[in-house]
Amino acid sequence: MAGLIPQDFINDLIARADIVEVVGRRTQLKKAGREYKACCPFHDEKTPSFTVSPGKGFYHCFGCGAHGTAIGFLMEFDHMSFVEAIESLASSMGVEVPRSESDQPTRRYDELFSLMDTVARHWQSCLKETPEAVEYLKERGIDGSTAKRFGIGYAPDGWSNVLDKFGKSEEAAERLLATGLIIRKDNGKHYDRFRDRVMFPIRDARGRTIGFGGRTMGDGEPKYLNSPETVLFHKGRELYGLYEARQALRHIERLVVVEGYMDTVALARHGIDFVVATLGTATTNEHLNRLFRLTENVYFSFDGDRAGKKAAWRALENALPQIREGRQIRFVFLPEGQDPDSFVNENGADAFVKLMDAGLPLSEFLIQKLSSQVDMDTIDGRAKLAEMARPLINNIPAGVYRELLIEGLATAVGLTAPKLEKMMAAGQAGRTRSEHARHGTTPRRKQPSASGGPSVVRRAITLILNHPEAGQKLDNEMLAGVQRAGVDLLSALIETVQSEPNITTAGLLERWRHDEKGRHLGKLAAEDVPVDEDFDPAAELAECLQQLALIGCQERIAILIEKQRVTGLAEDEKSELMRLIETRNSMK
Ligand code: UTP
Ligand code: MN
Repeated sequence: MAGLIPQDFINDLIARADIVEVVGRRTQLKKAGREYKACCPFHDEKTPSFTVSPGKGFYHCFGCGAHGTAIGFLMEFDHMSFVEAIESLASSMGVEVPRSESDQPTRRYDELFSLMDTVARHWQSCLKETPEAVEYLKERGIDGSTAKRFGIGYAPDGWSNVLDKFGKSEEAAERLLATGLIIRKDNGKHYDRFRDRVMFPIRDARGRTIGFGGRTMGDGEPKYLNSPETVLFHKGRELYGLYEARQALRHIERLVVVEGYMDTVALARHGIDFVVATLGTATTNEHLNRLFRLTENVYFSFDGDRAGKKAAWRALENALPQIREGRQIRFVFLPEGQDPDSFVNENGADAFVKLMDAGLPLSEFLIQKLSSQVDMDTIDGRAKLAEMARPLINNIPAGVYRELLIEGLATAVGLTAPKLEKMMAAGQAGRTRSEHARHGTTPRRKQPSASGGPSVVRRAITLILNHPEAGQKLDNEMLAGVQRAGVDLLSALIETVQSEPNITTAGLLERWRHDEKGRHLGKLAAEDVPVDEDFDPAAELAECLQQLALIGCQERIAILIEKQRVTGLAEDEKSELMRLIETRNSMK
């Protein structure tokens, strides 16, 4: 759908949008120098660390790391999809969104939200009239007030209850279809998706119902039926129970992530309100982003069986890019055969909290797991451990946490930290760029920046993102033939700022929004270090390019010299080599 809005239009929109106005309409901003400040709308704080930069068209919170453009802000704050955000921004600026091809009529999102809400309330009243359903909940230990808090309802049996009641006109049926409440058959007829199920509304951060999970009361399959992905509901980013937790708690000290609807509701019933559930999916990066915006202490609770252990390890892998000093992730393992719901019903809230407090910190879980897989008494075993640890460690942002983890790992295997790092770096040399791409890592250098490696590329990208105007005079040709992760992206950025001299930081971010390579640009745009008076971004950029060109040159020289040794060089290669050596010497 996004492809249908011309990119040019988006570029233009983001160039003209006033981020201060967009954010300011939703959060109280205060001018501070060239920027604006506020208490971050995405996490709980008392002193403002949320900054809006009108020049860059970009916001950033130093507390929780939230960042983005005007479009991104609307997506995060108003929970809009990309297309909605563009539509909203355009309409506030009085322009119409052009569509390159005929498209479905624009959905009226408020109508969809209000429809979901109406249906949720309808199902709640159905619950009251259905003794079997009330009985089912009671048997599972859920009382009336908890059911009410979570808006639990009941969808009666029958193929067209919702359809008949809420889909009388063609437009109304279209809306039901768009929210996933009904299903269209091949013959064009519709029927209700949820029949004879206990219904759990899934709410967004603002309490609006965006989807449902429905549980059979018997042995029907599937046990839980969920809303499909819709314009309102994106499974990978929602956390069931988050809204309810925020309602219940004034301050969220910690959050525990469980797997199921029932786990969330049962814990809440026992007074443990700081619970959210991923909806039958693995914990995504987006989930973690949300969690860490609210609290620094995140617990994962898993069943004690093998499947639970596996799920826990997956959660650990996904959490690595998110860890840093101050944040705490613990893994809570339940006794075999139990889930949080059954555990808390059997043992009570205190026992669950005790289990949480005894949860395994991420670092310990990681060390335990790795060292259980190798024979630590042999050199081979230690090498293998270093090998296994490397991709994991590389996914952790550089910083104190990572250093401490390496330290801990080293102690566990009876090595010194530098020695372990050396072992990890030794294996590292063999990793190809595509491997890095797959693991989402960047190659790590042995000596920071001395080799002029990826850190230079990163520095250059950060500079050009934050100071697009400083890239005007760069010679992109200098990057030709430089084989370094990120150089393609850098080169494309240079090309863009040169062909569009007025582009802003936000403009660049939006240009790369749907591009895998641009995934980290937002973070880099937020990274601009405070600088002193004589900071000259253009000069620094030129310097970076110079360094990269030198690396490219040296690498090509090495290849040619090796070739000369093995097979000899052709005439043109010989002259290329001479030229390269000359260039290199002039650069050094
Ligand atoms: P579980 O199978 O562990 O169920 O699924 P549960 O939460 O313990 O449910 P009860 O106690 O039997 O009622 C965990 C989660 O996986 C998703 C749901 O989100 C569920 O809460 N799931 C499971 C589905 O979406 N569909 C299914 O058929 C099963
Ligand atoms: Mn269960």
